Amino acid sequence: MPRITCPQLAQKVTTAETAAQYIHPGDNVGMSGFTGSGYPKAVPSALAKRIRAAHETGQDFSIGLFTGASTAPELDGVLAEVDGVHLRAPFMGDPTMRKAINDGRVEYNDVHLSHLAQQVWFGHYGKLDVAVVEVSAILPNGLLVPGSSVGNNKTWLDLADRVILEVNEWQPEHWEGFHDVYYGTRVPPHRNPIQLLEPNQRIGDPYLRVDPDKVVAVVKTNAPDRDNAFSPVDANSEAIAGHLIDFLRHEVRAGRMPTSLLPIQSGVGNVANAVLAGLGDSEFEHLTSFTEVIQDGLLDLVESGKIDSVSATGFSLSRERAERFHADIANYKGRVLLRPQEISNHPETIRRLGVIAINGMLESDIYGHVNSTNVSGSKMMNGIGGSGDFARNGFLNFFVSSSTAKRGAVSSIVPFASHVDHTEHDVHVLVTERGIADLRGTSPVQRARRIIRECAHPDYQDRLLDYLDRAIAANPHAQHEPHILAEALSWHVNLAETGHM
Ligand code: COA
Repeated sequence: MPRITCPQLAQKVTTAETAAQYIHPGDNVGMSGFTGSGYPKAVPSALAKRIRAAHETGQDFSIGLFTGASTAPELDGVLAEVDGVHLRAPFMGDPTMRKAINDGRVEYNDVHLSHLAQQVWFGHYGKLDVAVVEVSAILPNGLLVPGSSVGNNKTWLDLADRVILEVNEWQPEHWEGFHDVYYGTRVPPHRNPIQLLEPNQRIGDPYLRVDPDKVVAVVKTNAPDRDNAFSPVDANSEAIAGHLIDFLRHEVRAGRMPTSLLPIQSGVGNVANAVLAGLGDSEFEHLTSFTEVIQDGLLDLVESGKIDSVSATGFSLSRERAERFHADIANYKGRVLLRPQEISNHPETIRRLGVIAINGMLESDIYGHVNSTNVSGSKMMNGIGGSGDFARNGFLNFFVSSSTAKRGAVSSIVPFASHVDHTEHDVHVLVTERGIADLRGTSPVQRARRIIRECAHPDYQDRLLDYLDRAIAANPHAQHEPHILAEALSWHVNLAETGHM
Protein backbone atom coordinates (compact mmCIF):
# COMPACT_ATOMS: atom_id res chain seq x y z
CA MET A 1 0.00 0.00 0.00
CA PRO A 2 1.41 3.42 -0.87
CA ARG A 3 1.88 5.49 2.29
CA ILE A 4 1.37 8.93 0.75
CA THR A 5 -2.00 9.10 -0.97
CA CYS A 6 -2.77 12.80 -0.64
CA PRO A 7 -2.09 14.31 -4.09
CA GLN A 8 -1.13 17.75 -2.75
CA LEU A 9 1.37 16.36 -0.24
CA ALA A 10 2.68 13.66 -2.61
CA GLN A 11 3.97 16.51 -4.79
CA LYS A 12 6.15 17.68 -1.93
CA VAL A 13 8.18 14.47 -1.63
CA THR A 14 11.86 15.33 -1.63
CA THR A 15 15.19 14.37 -0.10
CA ALA A 16 16.19 14.90 3.53
CA GLU A 17 18.92 17.29 2.32
CA THR A 18 16.41 19.49 0.51
CA ALA A 19 14.02 19.37 3.45
CA ALA A 20 16.79 20.43 5.86
CA GLN A 21 17.26 23.62 3.79
CA TYR A 22 13.97 24.85 5.25
CA ILE A 23 15.53 25.01 8.72
CA HIS A 24 17.40 28.26 9.28
CA PRO A 25 19.98 29.37 11.85
CA GLY A 26 18.26 30.39 15.11
CA ASP A 27 15.00 28.58 14.32
CA ASN A 28 12.93 26.96 17.03
CA VAL A 29 12.26 23.44 15.80
CA GLY A 30 9.72 21.03 17.26
CA MET A 31 10.59 17.45 16.39
CA SER A 32 8.67 14.26 17.04
CA GLY A 33 10.06 11.53 19.29
CA PHE A 34 9.36 10.05 22.68
CA THR A 35 11.67 7.65 24.58
CA GLY A 36 13.36 6.52 21.40
CA SER A 37 10.26 6.06 19.27
CA GLY A 38 8.66 7.96 16.42
CA TYR A 39 11.49 10.47 15.95
CA PRO A 40 12.51 11.68 12.47
CA LYS A 41 15.22 9.42 11.09
CA ALA A 42 16.67 11.39 8.15
CA VAL A 43 16.22 15.18 8.38
CA PRO A 44 18.20 15.66 11.65
CA SER A 45 21.31 14.03 10.10
CA ALA A 46 20.96 16.12 6.95
CA LEU A 47 20.57 19.20 9.14
CA ALA A 48 23.65 18.24 11.18
CA LYS A 49 25.68 18.05 7.95
CA ARG A 50 24.46 21.50 6.96
CA ILE A 51 25.33 22.88 10.37
CA ARG A 52 28.80 21.34 10.27
CA ALA A 53 29.41 22.86 6.83
CA ALA A 54 28.22 26.27 8.05
CA HIS A 55 30.53 26.11 11.08
CA GLU A 56 33.45 25.19 8.82
CA THR A 57 32.94 28.43 6.94
CA GLY A 58 32.73 30.40 10.18
CA GLN A 59 28.95 30.89 10.23
CA ASP A 60 26.84 30.55 13.39
CA PHE A 61 24.19 27.89 13.02
CA SER A 62 22.23 26.34 15.87
CA ILE A 63 18.59 25.71 16.64
CA GLY A 64 16.28 25.55 19.64
CA LEU A 65 15.24 21.88 19.78
CA PHE A 66 11.96 20.69 21.30
CA THR A 67 10.72 17.11 21.25
CA GLY A 68 8.32 14.88 23.17
CA ALA A 69 11.06 13.33 25.29
CA SER A 70 14.32 11.45 24.63
CA THR A 71 15.12 10.51 21.04
CA ALA A 72 18.17 8.69 19.67
CA PRO A 73 21.70 9.17 18.34
CA GLU A 74 20.18 9.97 14.92
CA LEU A 75 18.55 13.09 16.39
CA ASP A 76 19.92 14.36 19.70
CA GLY A 77 23.26 12.68 19.09
CA VAL A 78 24.03 14.03 15.63
CA LEU A 79 22.85 17.55 16.42
CA ALA A 80 24.76 17.75 19.71
CA GLU A 81 27.85 16.34 18.00
CA VAL A 82 28.05 19.37 15.68
CA ASP A 83 27.08 21.91 18.38
CA GLY A 84 23.89 22.47 16.44
CA VAL A 85 21.58 23.07 19.42
CA HIS A 86 21.60 26.14 21.67
CA LEU A 87 18.42 25.28 23.60
CA ARG A 88 16.91 21.87 24.40
CA ALA A 89 13.64 20.90 26.07
CA PRO A 90 12.26 18.70 27.61
CA PHE A 91 13.64 15.24 28.70
CA MET A 92 16.72 13.83 26.93
CA GLY A 93 18.91 10.80 27.57
CA ASP A 94 21.46 10.86 24.79
CA PRO A 95 25.08 10.76 26.07
CA THR A 96 26.35 13.34 23.54
CA MET A 97 23.50 15.75 24.32
CA ARG A 98 23.97 15.14 28.06
CA LYS A 99 27.66 16.01 27.76
CA ALA A 100 26.89 19.16 25.75
CA ILE A 101 24.43 20.23 28.45
CA ASN A 102 26.86 19.47 31.28
CA ASP A 103 29.71 21.24 29.43
CA GLY A 104 27.54 24.35 29.17
CA ARG A 105 27.21 24.27 25.37
CA VAL A 106 23.43 23.75 25.42
CA GLU A 107 20.88 25.55 27.59
CA TYR A 108 18.54 22.85 28.89
CA ASN A 109 15.04 23.56 30.11
CA ASP A 110 14.04 20.48 32.07
CA VAL A 111 10.27 20.97 32.28
CA HIS A 112 7.50 18.52 33.16
CA LEU A 113 6.46 16.58 30.06
CA SER A 114 2.83 17.66 30.44
CA HIS A 115 3.86 21.34 30.54
CA LEU A 116 5.95 21.88 27.44
CA ALA A 117 3.14 22.06 24.87
CA GLN A 118 1.25 24.69 26.83
CA GLN A 119 4.44 26.65 27.52
CA VAL A 120 5.10 26.81 23.78
CA TRP A 121 1.48 27.93 23.24
CA PHE A 122 1.96 30.60 25.89
CA GLY A 123 4.99 31.83 23.91
CA HIS A 124 7.66 31.30 26.58
CA TYR A 125 10.18 30.20 23.94
CA GLY A 126 9.22 32.62 21.19
CA LYS A 127 7.61 31.36 18.03
CA LEU A 128 7.93 27.83 16.70
CA ASP A 129 9.42 28.06 13.22
CA VAL A 130 9.55 24.48 12.02
CA ALA A 131 7.98 21.11 12.86
CA VAL A 132 9.72 17.90 11.79
CA VAL A 133 7.35 15.03 12.48
CA GLU A 134 7.51 11.33 11.66
CA VAL A 135 4.21 9.68 10.67
CA SER A 136 3.34 6.26 9.30
CA ALA A 137 1.05 7.43 6.49
CA ILE A 138 -0.60 10.44 4.86
CA LEU A 139 -4.22 9.72 3.92
CA PRO A 140 -5.92 10.95 0.70
CA ASN A 141 -7.58 13.82 2.60
CA GLY A 142 -4.24 14.94 4.08
CA LEU A 143 -4.82 13.56 7.59
CA LEU A 144 -1.73 12.01 9.17
CA VAL A 145 -1.56 8.54 10.73
CA PRO A 146 0.89 8.79 13.63
CA GLY A 147 3.39 6.02 14.36
CA SER A 148 5.01 4.72 17.53
CA SER A 149 4.67 7.97 19.48
CA VAL A 150 2.43 11.03 19.58
CA GLY A 151 4.31 13.21 22.09
CA ASN A 152 3.94 16.91 21.32
CA ASN A 153 3.31 16.42 17.58
CA LYS A 154 -0.15 17.96 17.61
CA THR A 155 1.24 21.16 19.08
CA TRP A 156 4.25 21.28 16.76
CA LEU A 157 2.02 20.78 13.68
CA ASP A 158 -0.46 23.41 14.89
CA LEU A 159 2.08 26.08 15.81
CA ALA A 160 4.97 25.80 13.35
CA ASP A 161 5.20 28.08 10.34
CA ARG A 162 6.79 25.34 8.22
CA VAL A 163 6.21 21.60 8.46
CA ILE A 164 8.45 18.76 7.31
CA LEU A 165 6.93 15.29 7.40
CA GLU A 166 8.90 12.07 7.41
CA VAL A 167 6.84 9.06 6.32
CA ASN A 168 8.55 5.97 7.73
CA GLU A 169 7.69 2.67 6.06
CA TRP A 170 9.27 0.73 8.92
CA GLN A 171 6.26 1.78 10.98
CA PRO A 172 3.51 -0.81 10.36
CA GLU A 173 0.67 0.02 8.00
CA HIS A 174 -1.80 -1.01 10.65
CA TRP A 175 -1.19 1.84 13.08
CA GLU A 176 -4.50 3.39 12.08
CA GLY A 177 -6.85 3.24 15.08
CA PHE A 178 -4.17 3.15 17.79
CA HIS A 179 -4.12 6.89 18.43
CA ASP A 180 -6.40 9.31 20.19
CA VAL A 181 -5.47 12.91 19.46
CA TYR A 182 -7.39 15.32 21.66
CA TYR A 183 -8.18 18.58 19.89
CA GLY A 184 -10.17 20.11 22.75
CA THR A 185 -7.27 21.85 24.49
CA ARG A 186 -7.79 25.57 25.04
CA VAL A 187 -5.68 28.03 26.91
CA PRO A 188 -7.08 29.72 30.03
CA PRO A 189 -9.60 31.21 30.63
CA HIS A 190 -11.32 29.00 28.02
CA ARG A 191 -10.29 25.56 29.27
CA ASN A 192 -12.87 22.77 29.46
CA PRO A 193 -12.81 19.65 31.62
CA ILE A 194 -11.10 16.69 29.93
CA GLN A 195 -13.83 14.06 29.83
CA LEU A 196 -11.57 11.06 30.21
CA LEU A 197 -12.99 8.64 32.76
CA GLU A 198 -11.30 5.34 31.79
CA PRO A 199 -7.69 4.71 30.71
CA ASN A 200 -8.67 3.41 27.27
CA GLN A 201 -11.50 5.84 26.59
CA ARG A 202 -11.35 7.72 23.31
CA ILE A 203 -11.83 11.46 23.55
CA GLY A 204 -10.19 12.63 20.31
CA ASP A 205 -9.38 11.76 16.72
CA PRO A 206 -7.34 8.85 15.34
CA TYR A 207 -5.34 11.25 13.15
CA LEU A 208 -3.13 14.30 13.35
CA ARG A 209 -4.17 17.32 11.32
CA VAL A 210 -1.89 19.57 9.35
CA ASP A 211 -2.51 22.58 7.15
CA PRO A 212 -1.19 21.26 3.79
CA ASP A 213 -0.12 24.74 2.75
CA LYS A 214 2.39 24.79 5.65
CA VAL A 215 4.01 21.52 4.56
CA VAL A 216 7.26 22.42 2.81
CA ALA A 217 8.68 18.92 2.38
CA VAL A 218 7.78 15.25 2.72
CA VAL A 219 10.62 12.77 3.13
CA LYS A 220 10.29 9.01 2.77
CA THR A 221 12.25 6.84 5.21
CA ASN A 222 12.45 3.21 6.17
CA ALA A 223 14.37 2.94 9.42
CA PRO A 224 13.67 1.37 12.81
CA ASP A 225 13.14 3.11 16.11
CA ARG A 226 15.99 3.00 18.66
CA ASP A 227 16.62 -0.49 20.04
CA ASN A 228 15.60 -0.07 23.69
CA ALA A 229 17.01 -3.35 24.91
CA PHE A 230 17.47 -3.78 28.67
CA SER A 231 19.87 -5.95 30.56
CA PRO A 232 18.26 -8.89 32.36
CA VAL A 233 16.60 -8.08 35.68
CA ASP A 234 19.20 -8.04 38.49
CA ALA A 235 18.82 -9.12 42.12
CA ASN A 236 18.26 -5.60 43.49
CA SER A 237 15.54 -4.84 40.95
CA GLU A 238 13.86 -8.12 41.75
CA ALA A 239 13.95 -7.35 45.49
CA ILE A 240 12.55 -3.83 44.92
CA ALA A 241 9.77 -5.27 42.76
CA GLY A 242 8.99 -7.84 45.47
CA HIS A 243 8.62 -5.17 48.19
CA LEU A 244 6.49 -3.01 45.94
CA ILE A 245 4.09 -5.77 44.93
CA ASP A 246 3.71 -6.90 48.56
CA PHE A 247 2.89 -3.30 49.43
CA LEU A 248 0.16 -3.25 46.76
CA ARG A 249 -1.31 -6.43 48.32
CA HIS A 250 -1.32 -4.59 51.63
CA GLU A 251 -3.16 -1.64 50.04
CA VAL A 252 -5.79 -3.99 48.61
CA ARG A 253 -6.25 -5.65 52.02
CA ALA A 254 -6.59 -2.21 53.61
CA GLY A 255 -9.44 -1.49 51.19
CA ARG A 256 -7.67 1.38 49.48
CA MET A 257 -7.81 -0.14 46.00
CA PRO A 258 -9.57 -2.99 44.19
CA THR A 259 -7.91 -6.30 43.27
CA SER A 260 -7.48 -4.96 39.75
CA LEU A 261 -5.45 -2.19 41.46
CA LEU A 262 -5.56 1.29 39.92
CA PRO A 263 -4.05 2.33 36.57
CA ILE A 264 -0.29 1.86 36.73
CA GLN A 265 2.41 4.22 35.46
CA SER A 266 5.96 3.03 35.45
CA GLY A 267 9.17 4.57 34.20
CA VAL A 268 11.45 2.56 31.96
CA GLY A 269 14.43 0.54 33.17
CA ASN A 270 15.47 -2.51 35.05
CA VAL A 271 13.29 -1.96 38.11
CA ALA A 272 10.21 -1.14 36.03
CA ASN A 273 10.73 -4.34 34.06
CA ALA A 274 11.08 -6.34 37.27
CA VAL A 275 7.87 -4.80 38.67
CA LEU A 276 5.99 -5.61 35.48
CA ALA A 277 7.34 -9.16 35.45
CA GLY A 278 6.32 -9.51 39.12
CA LEU A 279 2.81 -8.25 38.37
CA GLY A 280 2.64 -10.78 35.53
CA ASP A 281 3.25 -13.58 38.03
CA SER A 282 0.95 -12.12 40.70
CA GLU A 283 -2.67 -12.88 41.58
CA PHE A 284 -3.83 -9.44 40.34
CA GLU A 285 -6.13 -9.55 37.29
CA HIS A 286 -7.67 -7.07 34.84
CA LEU A 287 -4.97 -4.50 35.41
CA THR A 288 -4.87 -1.24 33.48
CA SER A 289 -2.10 1.20 32.75
CA PHE A 290 -2.27 4.97 32.33
CA THR A 291 1.32 5.83 31.63
CA GLU A 292 3.58 7.69 29.23
CA VAL A 293 5.68 4.91 27.77
CA ILE A 294 5.06 1.28 26.82
CA GLN A 295 8.12 -0.90 27.25
CA ASP A 296 8.56 -4.62 26.50
CA GLY A 297 7.25 -5.79 29.87
CA LEU A 298 4.03 -3.80 29.59
CA LEU A 299 3.33 -5.12 26.11
CA ASP A 300 3.94 -8.67 27.35
CA LEU A 301 1.26 -8.14 30.00
CA VAL A 302 -1.18 -6.92 27.36
CA GLU A 303 -0.35 -9.95 25.22
CA SER A 304 -0.87 -12.36 28.12
CA GLY A 305 -4.19 -10.73 29.05
CA LYS A 306 -2.96 -9.66 32.50
CA ILE A 307 -3.46 -6.03 31.52
CA ASP A 308 -6.77 -5.14 29.89
CA SER A 309 -5.71 -1.81 28.41
CA VAL A 310 -2.85 0.68 28.22
CA SER A 311 -2.89 4.40 27.53
CA ALA A 312 0.46 6.09 26.81
CA THR A 313 2.08 8.56 24.45
CA GLY A 314 4.90 6.43 23.05
CA PHE A 315 6.63 3.08 22.93
CA SER A 316 10.12 2.19 24.07
CA LEU A 317 10.68 -1.32 22.81
CA SER A 318 13.64 -3.55 22.13
CA ARG A 319 14.07 -4.18 18.40
CA GLU A 320 13.09 -7.79 18.80
CA ARG A 321 9.88 -6.93 20.74
CA ALA A 322 9.00 -4.16 18.27
CA GLU A 323 9.22 -6.59 15.37
CA ARG A 324 7.13 -9.19 17.19
CA PHE A 325 4.58 -6.48 17.99
CA HIS A 326 4.42 -5.33 14.37
CA ALA A 327 3.82 -8.90 13.18
CA ASP A 328 0.86 -9.24 15.55
CA ILE A 329 -0.33 -5.62 15.76
CA ALA A 330 -4.00 -6.29 15.00
CA ASN A 331 -4.21 -8.28 18.24
CA TYR A 332 -3.53 -5.17 20.30
CA LYS A 333 -6.11 -2.90 18.71
CA GLY A 334 -8.56 -1.50 21.24
CA ARG A 335 -6.22 -2.38 24.09
CA VAL A 336 -3.43 0.09 23.37
CA LEU A 337 -3.99 3.81 22.82
CA LEU A 338 -1.42 6.56 22.23
CA ARG A 339 -2.34 10.14 23.15
CA PRO A 340 -0.61 13.52 23.07
CA GLN A 341 1.64 13.81 26.13
CA GLU A 342 -0.32 16.78 27.40
CA ILE A 343 -3.16 14.24 27.95
CA SER A 344 -1.21 11.08 28.84
CA ASN A 345 0.54 13.11 31.55
CA HIS A 346 -2.22 15.55 32.40
CA PRO A 347 -2.57 16.34 36.12
CA GLU A 348 -6.37 16.32 35.79
CA THR A 349 -6.60 12.86 34.23
CA ILE A 350 -3.92 11.35 36.49
CA ARG A 351 -5.68 12.65 39.60
CA ARG A 352 -9.12 11.56 38.41
CA LEU A 353 -8.05 8.03 37.46
CA GLY A 354 -6.05 7.57 40.68
CA VAL A 355 -2.83 6.45 39.03
CA ILE A 356 -0.18 4.39 40.86
CA ALA A 357 3.11 6.07 39.87
CA ILE A 358 6.39 4.14 39.98
CA ASN A 359 9.57 6.07 39.14
CA GLY A 360 13.31 5.82 39.65
CA MET A 361 15.37 8.26 41.71
CA LEU A 362 19.03 9.10 42.19
CA GLU A 363 18.75 9.87 45.89
CA SER A 364 16.33 10.77 48.64
CA ASP A 365 17.20 12.59 51.79
CA ILE A 366 16.14 11.41 55.22
CA TYR A 367 13.05 13.62 55.08
CA GLY A 368 11.85 12.31 51.72
CA HIS A 369 12.97 15.01 49.30
CA VAL A 370 13.79 13.17 46.08
CA ASN A 371 16.43 13.99 43.48
CA SER A 372 15.76 12.38 40.09
CA THR A 373 17.91 14.52 37.86
CA ASN A 374 21.13 16.16 39.07
CA VAL A 375 24.00 13.99 40.30
CA SER A 376 25.60 15.68 43.33
CA GLY A 377 23.38 18.67 42.76
CA SER A 378 24.87 19.85 39.49
CA LYS A 379 25.38 17.18 36.87
CA MET A 380 22.35 16.53 34.70
CA MET A 381 21.51 12.86 34.22
CA ASN A 382 18.41 12.83 31.97
CA GLY A 383 15.68 15.10 33.24
CA ILE A 384 12.49 14.98 35.27
CA GLY A 385 10.48 13.49 32.40
CA GLY A 386 6.97 12.63 33.48
CA SER A 387 7.93 11.63 37.02
CA GLY A 388 6.61 14.90 38.47
CA ASP A 389 3.39 14.77 36.45
CA PHE A 390 2.59 11.30 37.74
CA ALA A 391 4.00 11.45 41.26
CA ARG A 392 2.46 14.77 42.22
CA ASN A 393 -0.97 13.91 40.91
CA GLY A 394 -1.15 10.15 41.38
CA PHE A 395 -3.18 8.33 44.03
CA LEU A 396 -0.06 6.58 45.24
CA ASN A 397 3.55 7.14 44.24
CA PHE A 398 6.69 5.08 44.69
CA PHE A 399 10.28 6.22 44.20
CA VAL A 400 12.64 3.31 43.72
CA SER A 401 16.41 2.88 43.73
CA SER A 402 19.15 0.55 44.88
CA SER A 403 20.27 1.67 48.34
CA THR A 404 23.75 2.39 46.99
CA ALA A 405 25.29 3.34 43.64
CA LYS A 406 28.81 3.13 42.22
CA ARG A 407 29.64 -0.14 43.99
CA GLY A 408 28.70 1.18 47.40
CA ALA A 409 30.62 4.47 47.18
CA VAL A 410 27.34 6.41 47.02
CA SER A 411 24.40 6.10 49.40
CA SER A 412 21.01 6.72 47.81
CA ILE A 413 19.77 7.92 51.19
CA VAL A 414 21.58 11.08 52.23
CA PRO A 415 21.22 13.68 54.99
CA PHE A 416 20.22 16.40 52.53
CA ALA A 417 19.26 15.95 48.88
CA SER A 418 21.73 17.79 46.67
CA HIS A 419 18.90 18.73 44.29
CA VAL A 420 15.14 18.35 44.76
CA ASP A 421 12.67 17.35 42.04
CA HIS A 422 9.96 15.86 44.26
CA THR A 423 9.47 17.40 47.66
CA GLU A 424 8.56 15.76 50.97
CA HIS A 425 5.03 17.05 50.33
CA ASP A 426 4.67 14.84 47.26
CA VAL A 427 6.58 11.65 47.99
CA HIS A 428 4.53 8.73 49.34
CA VAL A 429 6.66 5.57 49.40
CA LEU A 430 10.39 4.92 49.03
CA VAL A 431 11.65 1.50 48.00
CA THR A 432 15.15 0.07 47.89
CA GLU A 433 16.28 -3.55 47.83
CA ARG A 434 16.55 -3.31 51.65
CA GLY A 435 12.88 -2.54 52.18
CA ILE A 436 10.02 -0.10 51.82
CA ALA A 437 9.19 3.08 53.75
CA ASP A 438 5.60 4.30 53.71
CA LEU A 439 5.88 8.03 54.35
CA ARG A 440 2.18 8.85 54.20
CA GLY A 441 0.84 10.36 57.39
CA THR A 442 4.24 10.88 58.99
CA SER A 443 6.02 13.94 60.35
CA PRO A 444 9.54 14.64 59.03
CA VAL A 445 11.38 13.07 61.98
CA GLN A 446 9.13 9.97 61.98
CA ARG A 447 9.74 9.78 58.25
CA ALA A 448 13.51 10.05 58.67
CA ARG A 449 13.64 7.17 61.18
CA ARG A 450 11.53 5.02 58.87
CA ILE A 451 13.59 5.78 55.75
CA ILE A 452 16.87 5.09 57.53
CA ARG A 453 15.60 1.86 59.10
CA GLU A 454 13.83 0.43 56.06
CA CYS A 455 15.67 1.76 53.01
CA ALA A 456 19.26 2.80 53.79
CA HIS A 457 22.13 0.40 53.25
CA PRO A 458 23.54 -1.00 56.56
CA ASP A 459 26.93 0.55 55.73
CA TYR A 460 25.35 4.01 55.99
CA GLN A 461 22.56 3.48 58.54
CA ASP A 462 24.51 4.36 61.70
CA ARG A 463 25.94 7.54 60.20
CA LEU A 464 22.50 8.66 59.03
CA LEU A 465 20.99 8.01 62.47
CA ASP A 466 23.87 9.82 64.12
CA TYR A 467 23.30 12.83 61.83
CA LEU A 468 19.58 12.83 62.61
CA ASP A 469 20.10 12.60 66.37
CA ARG A 470 22.71 15.36 66.41
CA ALA A 471 20.51 17.56 64.17
CA ILE A 472 17.64 17.13 66.64
CA ALA A 473 19.93 17.97 69.58
CA ALA A 474 21.39 20.99 67.80
CA ASN A 475 17.99 22.59 67.06
CA PRO A 476 16.00 22.63 70.33
CA HIS A 477 13.62 25.24 68.91
CA ALA A 478 13.50 23.98 65.31
CA GLN A 479 12.40 20.40 65.83
CA HIS A 480 10.16 20.09 62.79
CA GLU A 481 12.81 19.23 60.20
CA PRO A 482 16.15 19.76 61.89
CA HIS A 483 19.43 20.00 60.00
CA ILE A 484 23.04 20.83 60.73
CA LEU A 485 23.59 23.13 57.79
CA ALA A 486 27.38 23.02 57.85
CA GLU A 487 27.22 19.23 57.55
CA ALA A 488 24.10 18.68 55.46
CA LEU A 489 25.92 18.30 52.15
CA SER A 490 29.15 16.90 53.60
CA TRP A 491 28.44 13.45 52.14
CA HIS A 492 28.44 14.91 48.62
CA VAL A 493 31.56 16.92 49.43
CA ASN A 494 33.25 13.69 50.59
CA LEU A 495 32.23 12.03 47.34
CA ALA A 496 33.73 14.83 45.25
CA GLU A 497 36.96 14.87 47.27
CA THR A 498 37.54 11.17 47.96
CA GLY A 499 35.32 9.26 45.54
CA HIS A 500 33.28 7.90 48.46
CA MET A 501 30.49 9.35 50.58
N1 COA B 1 24.68 9.41 42.58
C1 COA B 1 25.41 9.23 41.46
N2 COA B 1 25.05 8.37 40.47
C2 COA B 1 23.95 7.64 40.66
C3 COA B 1 23.17 7.75 41.80
C4 COA B 1 23.56 8.69 42.78
N3 COA B 1 22.85 8.86 43.89
N4 COA B 1 22.14 6.90 41.68
C5 COA B 1 22.26 6.28 40.50
N5 COA B 1 23.35 6.72 39.88
C6 COA B 1 23.84 6.33 38.57
C7 COA B 1 24.00 4.83 38.47
O1 COA B 1 25.26 4.43 38.95
C8 COA B 1 23.88 4.62 36.97
O2 COA B 1 25.09 5.04 36.36
P1 COA B 1 25.76 4.17 35.21
O3 COA B 1 24.78 4.24 34.08
O4 COA B 1 27.03 4.92 34.94
O5 COA B 1 25.92 2.82 35.76
C9 COA B 1 22.82 5.63 36.58
O6 COA B 1 22.82 6.62 37.61
C10 COA B 1 21.41 5.04 36.44
O7 COA B 1 21.08 4.45 37.67
P2 COA B 1 20.30 3.07 37.79
O8 COA B 1 20.50 2.59 39.18
O9 COA B 1 20.69 2.16 36.68
O10 COA B 1 18.79 3.47 37.72
P3 COA B 1 17.82 3.85 36.53
O11 COA B 1 18.25 3.36 35.21
O12 COA B 1 16.48 3.44 37.05
O13 COA B 1 17.89 5.44 36.50
C11 COA B 1 17.25 7.63 37.11
C12 COA B 1 17.58 6.21 37.61
C13 COA B 1 16.85 8.46 38.30
C14 COA B 1 18.45 8.23 36.41
C15 COA B 1 16.06 7.50 36.09
O14 COA B 1 14.99 6.83 36.70
C16 COA B 1 15.58 8.85 35.59
O15 COA B 1 16.16 9.42 34.68
N6 COA B 1 14.50 9.38 36.22
C17 COA B 1 13.95 10.66 35.89
C18 COA B 1 12.92 10.58 34.81
C19 COA B 1 11.75 9.74 35.17
O16 COA B 1 11.56 9.33 36.31
N7 COA B 1 10.90 9.47 34.23
C20 COA B 1 9.72 8.69 34.52
C21 COA B 1 8.94 8.34 33.41
S1 COA B 1 9.81 7.42 32.12
